[in-house]
Amino acid sequence: MTRAAVAVAGLVALVAAGCEKPLKPGDPVRGLTAAQRDRFTRGKVVFDSAFTPQTGLGPLFNSTGCGECHEDPAKGGFGDEVEVHAAAFRGGVCDPLVQEGGFVIQQHTIPALKQALGIDSEPFPPSATGRAMRTTPVLFGRGLLDLVPDSVILSYADPDDRNHDGIRGRPNRAVDGRLGRFGRKAFIATLDEFNAGAFVAEMGITDPAQPTEENIGGRPIPAGVDSVPDPEITQEQLDLTNDFVRFLAPPTPARLDATGRRGRELFSQIGCAACHIPTLRTGDSPVAALRHREFAAYTDLLLHDMGPDLADICLGRATPSQFRTEPLIDLRDAQRFLHDGRATTPEQAIEAHGGEAAGARDRFKALPPADRAALTAFLKSL
Ligand code: HEC
Ligand code: HEC
Repeated sequence: MTRAAVAVAGLVALVAAGCEKPLKPGDPVRGLTAAQRDRFTRGKVVFDSAFTPQTGLGPLFNSTGCGECHEDPAKGGFGDEVEVHAAAFRGGVCDPLVQEGGFVIQQHTIPALKQALGIDSEPFPPSATGRAMRTTPVLFGRGLLDLVPDSVILSYADPDDRNHDGIRGRPNRAVDGRLGRFGRKAFIATLDEFNAGAFVAEMGITDPAQPTEENIGGRPIPAGVDSVPDPEITQEQLDLTNDFVRFLAPPTPARLDATGRRGRELFSQIGCAACHIPTLRTGDSPVAALRHREFAAYTDLLLHDMGPDLADICLGRATPSQFRTEPLIDLRDAQRFLHDGRATTPEQAIEAHGGEAAGARDRFKALPPADRAALTAFLKSL
């Protein structure tokens, strides 16, 4: 190529990048093959199907389908459902209460269970020491978070605060020692495992990866209550759901005006970016569209002590006051903030930060009103 041709080719590439249509909430990532797009579309159907007792729902459940909760502003998005979780924290050891039906406390029962036991929700586990409320988050970009190499996440950890900035960051670990990433406590290692667990914990739908129903507060399911043979969905239905969730893109952050750019600067200056790492990059993947991709993540996927006011339950190595840095993805559509939805604005969410985030919070509170507004405008662009 001549030098002029190279320049023209470069210009064409630049224009093409600038003209790429922004990704909306609910869109798949760019660059999927036709076959992958087809799986995304079919996976959405499974994600959005409503189960009944005849198709395996229950006997305990929180809702009838993934898409009943994760639905705003598109399937895979936020939901107004707030769940109850419970665990026992004794002598520094966390018990997720598997013997008593697990840490998700189901709020509904199918009619047959109600008839057999006279209950319309799962009894609260008697040995729990803590109770937690959990709002329904967006799933956009979680397929990319799944692929960030462990080494990258661990490079942000500073459990002994060697750099003396007051911010530690520790990884959670699954029971078998793998790095945890998903859920507000980062207790679950992979996206596929979270999804397989959600079928059972949220809908009482057993699947090939988790073929057993949870018990009812420690008691077995009474005979005749659930006659659908396990697993209640096929491997193909599970795989399609996994692909739908995996391919959900983080929506493209809005273009920033001068105020938004000032807000982005402040976000780094006052120390928000120490935990909410703006950009992460995925590692290897058999899916080209997910491989070595940079994306706006705003998380380190590590646990941070957020102080006593936000504390609720333990899970794995997360103590009651430790939470995973929440990814700041699709904040423009968020109605509620923080794990239990106690904040209705981003400002309230920041003001509730404590513990390791107290310094950043105080610097935010000390900003002049125009700068606070700029930072909030930036958050709303995400
Ligand atoms: C009753 C409402 C409800 C239903 C039904 C539901 N979810 Fe969720 N989902 C939640 C809540 C609440 C959380 C947050 C859990 C936490 O913070 O520990 C969550 C979290 C998740 C996460 C982790 C997100 C993250 O940031 O780590 C994934 C993945 C997920 N759900 C997938 C699914 C799939 C797949 C289904 C269907 C099989 C499903 N969910 C069904 C309420 C629901
Ligand atoms: C020490 C680490 C840390 C620092 C520093 C920090 N955050 Fe957070 N942030 C978190 C954690 C952990 C959560 C989740 C807390 C929860 O759900 O209770 C969170 C949650 C949030 C949320 C709510 C997100 C949602 O969808 O619920 C917003 C908004 C936010 N942070 C913005 C900021 C801003 C702005 C700053 C700087 C002033 C900041 N954070 C500094 C760790 C941090």
